[in-house]
Amino acid sequence: MLNAGIIGVGRYVPEKVVKNTDLEKIMDTSDEWIRTRTGIEERRIAGDDMDTSDMAFEAAKNAIEHAGISPKEIDLILVATVTPDQPFPTVACMLQDRLGATNAAAMDISAACAGFMYGLATAQQFIVSGTYRYVLVVGVEKLSKITDWSDRNTAVLFGDGAGAAVVGPVSEGRGILAFDLGADGSGGKYLYQDRYIHMNGREVFKFAVRQMGESCIRVIEKAGLSKEDVDFLIPHQANIRIMESARQRLELPVEKMSKTVHKYGNTSAASIPISLVEELEAGKIKDDQVIVMVGFGGGLTWGAVLLRWGR
Ligand code: UT7
Repeated sequence: MLNAGIIGVGRYVPEKVVKNTDLEKIMDTSDEWIRTRTGIEERRIAGDDMDTSDMAFEAAKNAIEHAGISPKEIDLILVATVTPDQPFPTVACMLQDRLGATNAAAMDISAACAGFMYGLATAQQFIVSGTYRYVLVVGVEKLSKITDWSDRNTAVLFGDGAGAAVVGPVSEGRGILAFDLGADGSGGKYLYQDRYIHMNGREVFKFAVRQMGESCIRVIEKAGLSKEDVDFLIPHQANIRIMESARQRLELPVEKMSKTVHKYGNTSAASIPISLVEELEAGKIKDDQVIVMVGFGGGLTWGAVLLRWGR
């Protein structure tokens, strides 16, 4: 049986920082409200010259370099996003061209904030079946272009950014050991986009608290492990209160959960890979550790991936 794991990562966030105090000037909100209800202090917003595919390209380039492979070795590109440059050609196809990944098939995945989890699980399946060797998975969003800046219920929450991972063969016992994906389409009405994002925050909050915890437990069981085996948790960075509920469910100490929500807000499909890169850079993730990543989002969707770090 082949094992598939993350062998290279990269991230990109726009330079422009928008602080809560900047938002106070354009809408009826306060730094105090945003911090206490969400944990967000600031977010990055991409300029007009930087669309979704541009951020994806920067993150992907870094991940490929980090993995030490050539773009021509990539067999499949999966881009998780709900904010593509346009419906088609996909961001994945745009990336395929810009990276020179001429041997890769390419498609976008639309599973909102759980998109990167759907991408990792799909990549793993292609690799363990022996179909493909290297799959590039990107989570990227330019949520600022679908944000209604006059709606304080949503505008304070989101940010732009990209994270990428190269998934490839790893040694036995390492890599992705289990995943748990799911959806509840009956909750689609609670979080959707027409021109802009619309959200029933309380309903999404309840769903998130329930599914984040339960999905973590399911993925641990599927891997044949127990809560005590988990070394580090990377939850989707939507709201510190939701993240905390997942951490408490796993009975992990605070230092074993990734937190980047204060710096970037909710970057949807990008939040988990951005956090992963930052934790690796900070030396918080080491070889052989058991990492659980878990996300939830519009659809409604959820997904968790458990992996043992290292090649
Ligand atoms: O990636 C998935 C994306 N979605 C999520 O993760 C969202 C999940 N939900 C949440 O994170 C929370 O529900 C929110 C942060 C969105 C809201 O927090 P809450 O504790 O559920 O607040 P609430 O919706 O119950 O609103 C409380 C009050 C309301 O005023 P009234 O009706 O009690 O007078 C809101 O109008 O806070 C008001 N409010 C605000 N006040 C200042 C809502 N947004 C703001 C704001 N600034 N930005």
